[in-house]
Amino acid sequence: MSIRIMGSGSAIPKRKVTNDELCGFIDSNDNWIKERTGIISRYISMGETVRTLACKAAKKAIKDAGINACDIELIIVATCSAEQALPCIACEVQKSIGAEGAVAFDLNAACAGFLFAMNTADTYISGGIYKNALIIGAEVLSNIVDWSDRSTCILFGDGAGALYFEKDNSKLRFIQKSNGFKGEALSCYQRDSKSAFYEGDILYKYVKMDGREVFRFATRVVSDTILRLLDEEGMTVDDIDMFLLHQANLRIIECIAKRLKADISKFETNVERFGNTSSASIPILIDEVRRKGKLTEGMKIVISGFGAGLTYSACLMEL
Ligand code: COA
Repeated sequence: MSIRIMGSGSAIPKRKVTNDELCGFIDSNDNWIKERTGIISRYISMGETVRTLACKAAKKAIKDAGINACDIELIIVATCSAEQALPCIACEVQKSIGAEGAVAFDLNAACAGFLFAMNTADTYISGGIYKNALIIGAEVLSNIVDWSDRSTCILFGDGAGALYFEKDNSKLRFIQKSNGFKGEALSCYQRDSKSAFYEGDILYKYVKMDGREVFRFATRVVSDTILRLLDEEGMTVDDIDMFLLHQANLRIIECIAKRLKADISKFETNVERFGNTSSASIPILIDEVRRKGKLTEGMKIVISGFGAGLTYSACLMEL
């Protein structure tokens, strides 16, 4: 038993921000950003929230799938940047779309969040507990980025993507891993620890990153994990028609392709236009690729997410 994509949708803030615009207030330049990251522009919230973007993407995916929201049994929102702690975003989506019968909860595994949520949905559905799932990745990272830190603020963007899945019999295999021992490489301690009994710690509330460490981690673990996954399935890189990786950075994707000895043309990208939207990047990419008609029945694809935690995951899916 496995799950199949039956519908997709995405929601992007209206405001596009180019590298040149960023360089109006940070000491950088378009060339440096393009060369090191591949990013040319990103979309930044002008009041859109994780909630509003998630709801919008969900509605598009439901429309695309042609289903009735009250038949949805499971809603998971992957996010690490929600403006609200309670109620969770998935319950907000449930209310907004009218999915009365659904079980809804959020999951945070940073940029691997969407794949962790997909794996969770697959486990529930394959176990016979639910028949379908709406999985959303939604982020407003512009709220947690330090806009005076040129090494991080150039990387991130805002947006949401949603995929609707139903039970199926096609091949689907996941590997997911966490390495909390390296967590300091990419962190964000957002909330005060102040209470009536404790005066609280002073926190740096923005994303803090050791870029080189994250780069090394991503290129090494993603390629190793994909190779392990393929090996366990008796397949090779040549058997894969398309690679859909978390859109962190074009250089990371190129480096992974090289390590896999895979043809770079098999790697779809949109990081150039969206930047790194964390848990939203994979569903936004899949939605784009689907709409272009590039995903056809029988194709074998590899999806991989990696990021803070540290967390990483790879998935082999036969369409
Ligand atoms: N513009 C110009 N110079 C910049 C800059 C910017 N936006 N950001 C950093 N620099 C400078 C640094 O200050 C440093 O200067 P110094 O040598 O005078 O100290 C120099 O560039 C090199 O810094 P370094 O951090 O070593 O650069 P890098 O080649 O590693 O590139 C990243 C930085 C962030 C692009 C790169 O490390 C990276 O892509 N890491 C992965 C990040 C990522 O994808 N994270 C999310 C994963 S989910």
